[in-house]
Amino acid sequence: MRPEPTLPYEFTAPIHTERLRLRLMVESDVDDIFAYQSREDVVRYELFEPRTREQVAEKVATYATASSLAIEGDYLQLAVELPTAEGGPRVIGDSYFKLSSLENSRGEIGWTLHPDFMRQGYATEAARAMLAVAFEQIGLHRVVAELDPRNGPSIALCRRLGMREEAHFVKDLWFKGDWGDTGMYAILREEWLSTAQIQRSPTG
Ligand SMILES: CC(C)(COP(=O)(O)OP(=O)(O)OC[C@H]1O[C@@H](n2cnc3c(N)ncnc32)[C@H](O)[C@@H]1OP(=O)(O)O)[C@@H](O)C(=O)NCCC(=O)NCCS
Repeated sequence: MRPEPTLPYEFTAPIHTERLRLRLMVESDVDDIFAYQSREDVVRYELFEPRTREQVAEKVATYATASSLAIEGDYLQLAVELPTAEGGPRVIGDSYFKLSSLENSRGEIGWTLHPDFMRQGYATEAARAMLAVAFEQIGLHRVVAELDPRNGPSIALCRRLGMREEAHFVKDLWFKGDWGDTGMYAILREEWLSTAQIQRSPTG
């Protein structure tokens, strides 16, 4: 019998990981998010150009209400929040998850961090929490990541998550003024469940 995913999935409470909190974005996050989405070095391999504060505010308003995964194309774009020594928490990046195919029980994952918070394992920690939702709570069959094959840190992150390279499409998209390649990485539910990563699932 084909296992069916448990849908709809409603994002009703933040996900706590060892060091982070993943939650829906709110209007007061705009400055933190603008701090990295406005940077050319951060968005180099993203599908968009550096954003103005107004563009970030518009996006945050849209993402803030995207809390349900029910039909194909539904997504979560969560704020990745870190407590700071100075007091209040700070949004250091965002974590993306899309229900990309209902028929084939497939999701898609994505990530961005502020450069001040890169190379400390935060993206890995946030992505593991999203994969735990995808595989352990929703029960999807497969999760993919599409990336620019020049994006070394993103490829390294896929590999840390146990994702395998499955395709390299050559000049398959018009990307920032030129034809660009796409790399495709993926992990199956059974692969996720068979790794020790299940022990690092979010606590709720
Ligand atoms: C892609 C991106 C999120 C990866 O970020 P990252 O900081 O390299 O990834 P992590 O936060 O998981 O950190 C991993 C690094 O921290 C180290 N690390 C330290 N503590 C760690 C821990 N507890 N767990 C895992 N790794 C840890 C790892 O060894 C690794 O170091 P290395 O880069 O020297 O190998 C980041 O480069 C980014 O935001 N880029 C711009 C946006 C972008 O291109 N997004 C993707 C579009 S497809």
